[in-house]
This record gives sequence, C-alpha cells and structure tokens, in this order.
Amino acid sequence: MPLPLKALTPAPPDSILGLAEAFRSDARPAKVNLSVGVYVDESGTTPVLPSVIEAERRLVERAQSKVYRPIEGSPGYRRAVAELVFADVAGIVAGNRAAVAQTPGGTGALRVAADFLLQAGASRTLWLPQPTWPNHPQLFGLAGFGLRSYPYLRAGGRQIDEAALLGALRSADPGDLVLLQGSCHNPTGVDPSPLLWRAIADLVVERELLPIVDFAYQGFGHGLREDADWLAGLARPGLEFLVCSSFSKNFALYNERVGALAVVAADAGRAAAALSHVRVAIRANYSNPPSHGADVVEAILADSALRARWETELAGMRDRIRANRAAFVDALTAAGVPGDWEPLRRQRGMFALLGLGPAQVGRLRDEFGVYVVAGGRVNVAGLTAANLPCVVDALAAVIEA
Ligand code: LMR
Repeated sequence: MPLPLKALTPAPPDSILGLAEAFRSDARPAKVNLSVGVYVDESGTTPVLPSVIEAERRLVERAQSKVYRPIEGSPGYRRAVAELVFADVAGIVAGNRAAVAQTPGGTGALRVAADFLLQAGASRTLWLPQPTWPNHPQLFGLAGFGLRSYPYLRAGGRQIDEAALLGALRSADPGDLVLLQGSCHNPTGVDPSPLLWRAIADLVVERELLPIVDFAYQGFGHGLREDADWLAGLARPGLEFLVCSSFSKNFALYNERVGALAVVAADAGRAAAALSHVRVAIRANYSNPPSHGADVVEAILADSALRARWETELAGMRDRIRANRAAFVDALTAAGVPGDWEPLRRQRGMFALLGLGPAQVGRLRDEFGVYVVAGGRVNVAGLTAANLPCVVDALAAVIEA
C-alpha cells in the first residue's frame, strides 16, 4: 500500500518557525528577524540566563542517574510550578485543587490538555480568539476539536472589542471549551482588563464553559504576579479550568522544552482523578517527560537566592522589551509613519500587531530583509538601536498614508 497522496504533497512551511528557517538561509547581511517569539538582547543573541547556568552547575555536581521520571514529572517541580502560577490565590494550592503535570513546553501542555479533554469526554467545540497564535487552531484541529472563533479586537486593532467578545461567548453551548490567553496576548499584545476578566468569568459560569488558559509569557508583561491578574477573575469557588504554562520565555529555556499543564478542579478529589487521566494522556504520547529543563526550573525556584537572581534577570528582559516599545513608538512617530502607534507603548509582552496585509509583509521581507509574522506581528524584543532605523524606514516604505 503506497503512502496516501496527502503525505507526499509537501505541507506549507510553519507560519512562524518556517520564517526562522527562511531567515537563516537569507544571505543578505542587513536582515532583521522580528518573527519568532524569542527574546534577544541588544547584541541580537538569546543568552543562557546566569541563574540557569548556576542551576546547571549544581545539577551536574549531584547528577546520579538518568532513570525515568514519574509520568507527571517530579513532585518538587510540580509543587514549585503550582506555587509560581497560582501563588496563594483562592486557596487553589492549599486546597490541592491544582493537578500539575510536567510537559514538553507550553505546546506540549496544550496537546496533553487536548488529549485529556477528549479522553474525558469534554465538548469537542473549542472557541479561540480571532486572531490567535496560529498553532492553536492547528493543534486543536488536528487533535479532533471543532473550532469556533470569538472576535478579539476592534477595527483599528488597538483595543479589545469587549461587546463582540462577550457576545460570541454568550452563544457558546454549555460544556464548550474556550481558550483564553492569560497575559501578553499573542499576536496582539493587548490583554483584557481585570474588569473584562470578571465579565468573562461571569459568562464562563453562566454558560458553564470550560476555560483553557494559555499562559506562555508569565513575567514578560508587568511581573510574575501582575501577569497572573486573570486568576482573580477565574479563581472562583468550584470553577474548573486548565492552565498551560511555558518556561521557554521566562527562563529562556527554549530548547529544553519545559512547561506544565495544571488542571484546576473543584476539589482535591476531582483534581487527583483528573491527574490520573492526564497521566494516561502523557503515557500514550511520550511516556514520561525529559528531566533537564524541569530540574533547572525546580532548582531555581527552590533556592531563594537563585530565585531572586532569576527574577532580576526576568525583570531585565521585561524592562528591555518595554524600553524597545517606547523607542519603536517614538521612532515611528518621529518618522511620520502613518498609523495609531501610541497604544503599542502600553501593550504587554513581546508582540505588537501592526496590522499589515500579506503584500506589505512580503515587501518587508523581500525588499528590506525585515521578517515579521503574517498580519504584521513584530517581536519587539528583536529591535535594537542598530536595526531600529532600518525597520522604521522599511515600514515607512510599505505603509502608505
Ligand atoms: C511564537 O509565537 O513566535 C512563539 O510562541 C514560538 C512558537 O512556537 O511559535
């Protein structure tokens, strides 16, 4: 039996990681990569954090065995992650309401969540923000969910369309899943206000929806706790939800693939039962998790001095991103590039969505060597004093008055 035809027709390149590959093979010296969501410093590199290097040094010293880890990851890691994500909000940790499992990155957490939900007999309808990270529809669609979308931004792309968002979710059926991004919305950089989070949570309760919170950028917006402000809305007694965390960005552990899925259940008994099914989903996918990245995260979070060092390093990345936002807005304004740029200054996280069409994105890449994601998503961290003038000139050329 030959391979099916579809397997022989090349799939299109990945809409984000494919750009990184195209960038690498672009021979022009004056190219600028503002595509993949990876933090870079002023020299254009993604350094290993000093706190990570120190944790790795300690791990090497005490390394004893490469034996399998528990399916759900080590108890120390799982406890540390629960405390990092939930702190002491609403007694979730103290009440053992969060079933946490280690996953390969945030994407792995989303995939394990998808499989767990299907195994558990959840609704097969998932509501996604429009726009969202392109791997969300791909991942959940291939896992077998039917996808619906809720509008996210008003025309102009700088503010959330609260009425349209709430209106769409009001039409969801009881049991439907809704994907929410906890902070630093990808691709827009625009997050709900605490008031809107409450309104969303009211609807979740009223319509009996099950939220999946993608929390890939904790600490990249305003701070570790500040970026968890969505929790105050959702963490109501009895309300159940899933959280998918990534430590690619905040620990700069991109290639270690370390993340976590937390299933927050109404009580400890339900959480324990949920964990048993999450373990089945993991076992059927990749059996048990790799250890190194999780060990690094656990070592840093468990040692107060090392943790303080990491928090300072994280604040350094966050501050640079915010300074870049300001410099970008100032430069666009000074150059008279037509557009509503001022709101970009106050947005959260690595991304700004410039609202460009495919032809403009293509011209940026082909004529100017500036790589941005579809729609004009820019990784603000990729801007440096050296490349900012070229980026602004290129934008001035492709954005017409
Ligand atoms: C992004 O959106 O650029 C990042 O989340 C990296 C990725 O995996 O797409």
